[in-house]
Amino acid sequence: MPIVNRFHDLTEEITAWRRDLHENPELLYDTVRTSAVVADKLREFGLDEVATGLGKTGVVGIIKGKGGGAGPVIALRADMDALPILERTNKPYASKTPGVMHACGHDGHTAMLLGAAKYLAETRNFGGTVAVIFQPAEEGGAGAKAMIDDGLLTRFGIERVFGMHNMPGMPVGTFAIRPGPLMASADRLRITIDGLSGHAAKPHLSRDPIVAGAAIITAAQSIVARNADPLEAAVLSITMFHAGTTDNVIPSSAELRGTVRTLLPEMRDLIEARLEAMVAQVGAAYGVEARLDYSRDYPVTANDAAEASFAADIAAKVVGETNVDRNVVPTMGGEDFSFMLNERPGAFIFAGVGEDVANLHNDAYDFNDELIPVGCSYWTTLVETALPRTA
Ligand code: NI
Repeated sequence: MPIVNRFHDLTEEITAWRRDLHENPELLYDTVRTSAVVADKLREFGLDEVATGLGKTGVVGIIKGKGGGAGPVIALRADMDALPILERTNKPYASKTPGVMHACGHDGHTAMLLGAAKYLAETRNFGGTVAVIFQPAEEGGAGAKAMIDDGLLTRFGIERVFGMHNMPGMPVGTFAIRPGPLMASADRLRITIDGLSGHAAKPHLSRDPIVAGAAIITAAQSIVARNADPLEAAVLSITMFHAGTTDNVIPSSAELRGTVRTLLPEMRDLIEARLEAMVAQVGAAYGVEARLDYSRDYPVTANDAAEASFAADIAAKVVGETNVDRNVVPTMGGEDFSFMLNERPGAFIFAGVGEDVANLHNDAYDFNDELIPVGCSYWTTLVETALPRTA
């Protein structure tokens, strides 16, 4: 399928790595075995430097091009963590750890970047230096931020960053990207409502946090409907409402939780500010004390326009221009590569993993190994184009 495939000879080996990772999934920062496998392989490939322990369990490999690595430094990033899901793929290499599975294809991301690292370390057909980044805790733990906080970008002098995510529903041999916001900011909210408990038959002697909570939920929906620019994306979902213990008691408190997704920083600011005001004032109107606890988790994943165009050109070199969507519709999912894109110019791209592959985070999902040669070719073509040989 790929027009450029440099990985005919390596695909079988990389597939075996991928399936081994799939069989041994690990959550968040607990990617101890995975990190060790990655670091061991990078050393075996003869990388110039292998650094471990960034962001607890993150690994970075350094590959110097011809000319001793003098020149620009670019970084390629993969994520290593799995999800707390009971796997139902029935594959021979299914998870050996019940309740933990690679349902987002990070096993494939890690294997493809390992394959690219092996190829680049053997051929070194580029100038400058490549950093291959393997991060833990993409799924809600902000592992990318933890690695940055440990000096990832400054320690290795990284100037540009590139990331890739597999995408079910798109055929293998297709890529999709866009300049600007590609994925949403992902924030968490918690609303605590303190009222006064009492007999359900004597509501006038209590201050009911449930009725107040219901009013807050209804009012909050008007933020997206009435305050947000209708041409800009915003999602506000209340996903939890916990209160009460029985049928004849008005409880003393209630807790709501939910998530907010936006594609623009101004929209994120607006929703947080309006929510803050609405929670306090609707609460006051109902005679209860309501507080908002708003946690800004992942920023918007926004591609630099020039780098998105560059990444699309690379994809086109690998699979042909007709198989690259340069202006894909953004998704309201979140991605912590956003922290890296906030620090350095770069681009995040979606790579088709097959139309019949189950959705990401589904218990029947399995990374399609046919993507391996395509993804590896994308990485290596990107390096050789971004860092042309001068020596
Ligand atoms: Ni993912």
